[in-house]
Amino acid sequence: MKYLIILVFSIFTMLSCSEEKHRKTEKISNQVDQLIQKMSLKEKVGQLNMLKGLYSTDIYEQETDLEKAIKAGQVGGITPYTDMEQLIKWQKTAVDSSRLGIPLFFSFDVVHGYQTMFPIPLAQSCSWDLKAIENADRIAAIEASASGINWVFGPVLDLCRDARWGRNMETAGEDAYLASQIAKARVRGYQGKNLKDSLTVMACAKHFAGYGAVEGGLDYNAAEISERHMREYHLKPFKAAVEEGITTVMNAFNTVNGIPSTQNDFLLKTILQNEWSFGGFTVSDANSIYELIPHGVAKDQREAAIKSFKSGSNTDLWSEIYMQELPKLIEEGVISEHHINEAVRRVLELKQKLGLFEDPYRYLNPQRQKKFLGAENHRKASRELATKSFVLLENKDAILPLDLKKYNSIALIGPMNDSREFRDLVGNWAARVKVEETVTIVDAFEQRIRPEINYTQTAGCGHWGKCKEDQIREAVTSLQNSDIGIVVLGENGYSSGEGGSKTDVTLPGNQEELIKKLAATGKPIILLVMAGRPLVLTEINEEVDALMLCWQPGTEAGNAIVDMLLGEANPSGKLTMSFPYHQGQVPIYYNHLNTGRPPKNPEDKRWGITKYSDAPREPLYPFGYGLSYTSFEIKPPELSHSHIKKSDTLKVSTVLKNTGDRLGAEVVQLYIRDLVASVARPIKELKAFKRIVLKPGEEQVVTFQITEEDLKFWDINMNFIAEPGQFEVYIGNSSHHLKKVSFTLKP
Ligand code: BGC
Repeated sequence: MKYLIILVFSIFTMLSCSEEKHRKTEKISNQVDQLIQKMSLKEKVGQLNMLKGLYSTDIYEQETDLEKAIKAGQVGGITPYTDMEQLIKWQKTAVDSSRLGIPLFFSFDVVHGYQTMFPIPLAQSCSWDLKAIENADRIAAIEASASGINWVFGPVLDLCRDARWGRNMETAGEDAYLASQIAKARVRGYQGKNLKDSLTVMACAKHFAGYGAVEGGLDYNAAEISERHMREYHLKPFKAAVEEGITTVMNAFNTVNGIPSTQNDFLLKTILQNEWSFGGFTVSDANSIYELIPHGVAKDQREAAIKSFKSGSNTDLWSEIYMQELPKLIEEGVISEHHINEAVRRVLELKQKLGLFEDPYRYLNPQRQKKFLGAENHRKASRELATKSFVLLENKDAILPLDLKKYNSIALIGPMNDSREFRDLVGNWAARVKVEETVTIVDAFEQRIRPEINYTQTAGCGHWGKCKEDQIREAVTSLQNSDIGIVVLGENGYSSGEGGSKTDVTLPGNQEELIKKLAATGKPIILLVMAGRPLVLTEINEEVDALMLCWQPGTEAGNAIVDMLLGEANPSGKLTMSFPYHQGQVPIYYNHLNTGRPPKNPEDKRWGITKYSDAPREPLYPFGYGLSYTSFEIKPPELSHSHIKKSDTLKVSTVLKNTGDRLGAEVVQLYIRDLVASVARPIKELKAFKRIVLKPGEEQVVTFQITEEDLKFWDINMNFIAEPGQFEVYIGNSSHHLKKVSFTLKP
């Protein structure tokens, strides 16, 4: 029987190849309907049951005999923590030994690369280079799909304004517009143009929604978000991903206004299904259906299953509650079979679109895996994106790039320089990284610095930031005996990521003390900071000569860092999260409201205005900020009209000139402020940007187009409209370095 079904699917699929899209869709639905008619209740629920590939005896999990469950048709997909051989066995069991032979999904967290690690997503966002980001996920998809994975749990589309939250590293930063552009690029990267291409995978937008707003930056905590803020901010990147055709969406762990995302009708039904017409399926986060019990909204598994399924959580990741509860609930009529069929249809249609019915083994080819994993061009792309993601924060007297002729010796200091531990150079969520393939900083120094000048390497402190007296002494001595220090400090890769919330976001341990003692030698110091979140650098940014944020750069870390030190690459990264002046400022973000008592300027010291009495209101380094080895001039913006109607397109133009002596890239940023509206609007909001590469002396006219869409917001009556009135347009190279013009939107 199962062969027959697969054959029928294959013939249907071949025939439909040349037909137009909607007929194709109709055909897929018909085939899927035929299959659904043949399925038992348990087989239907089985398709909604996504399991972990190797057992952990987690308190939430029951050990299941996986083979037995697959044979019984009770598994829809597996997240495998194992090799391809095992995946082939599981797929064979599903196809040959289950009654209907429905192939399995294989899913995995592929957040910034599979084996070739790219910089962490927060770093990637600082490149503002959408093509490079798309390409990184294209490569991640190629490596994952060549390893048997057909469904990746990414991109992460949460927005966060709080440096304490560990999962910042997975995100595209604090801005909804930039994150939406990146969301689209990532969907294109993972899913490609055609899911049937076996080098593409289904992507999964996560975590829906409001997870980045957890109170206190504390992972899994509650979030309180008004509908206006939810729509204008947290939902935007998800909407963009749905518009770009993302196939799956994962729930968040948190409650939003008291209701867990996993059973949130407003999010899953009103927004995702009804307003956005999302055609794919949703998946719970790991065990999040079970977690309705500790959340205190379900008294037992049965109630958890009812609430989450009815709200629109289509499939169950790892809790097995659907498998245990739904068949009974359908028999009892608590959940309608029609409703189950709807969820099963969503799953099967995607299996069909991936081509799994035609060839269940299309992703399971060991030859392909050998060819693609860690390929040279993948590493090259990772190295390039790493250099594009570095953000140069300080560069006194243009000390960088290094002129090696000026020095006889370098003191290289830092515990991560020759380390492949603690995800140091690759960052957390490193999928199936092979750490032995990482180019460390010492590797790159040995190859490219040692032949030029001598250098010594000392740790200075331990991996978690504790600098012991003898380590400090050794580092100081090595600097005293050298001409310049290159000091690499910050957070190791395990300091951020899931469950990685912190209350202290200054440099870990006593690294500040180490830097101050090094600075006291009077030797020039280049400080390279590794991080998975914004850090407070106020205590040390003036102690050093150059300060470059390298995040966690990935497999080619050492090479990318040396490229940058030697000027073989030129920094162009711009911060996508505000770097606080003091940790008491968090949450801090550039697009805040004016308030009723705004300061006149950053130095305004009056009582009773929106300021702190012990710290500035502004961050140390603002959103959009980052230096280059060359310099750029941005001319004041010019408008095509000073008054526009809603149907008009406003052209905003400026001239960008490379006024320095090196090839470099600048990100020209356009912000808008709606001066008077029915609800208070942010003091500026990013609406467009362009990353432009110019040769020394070269200039280019940069033009942006603004339409009514860019001026819309959720008004006092919760209508998404543009209100007539005056707007300011700002153009510049950071959210704090801007030139202004105004225009009026006519009624
Ligand atoms: C995370 C998800 C991830 C899932 C599966 C959860 O703990 O929140 O982002 O996809 O685990 O690994």
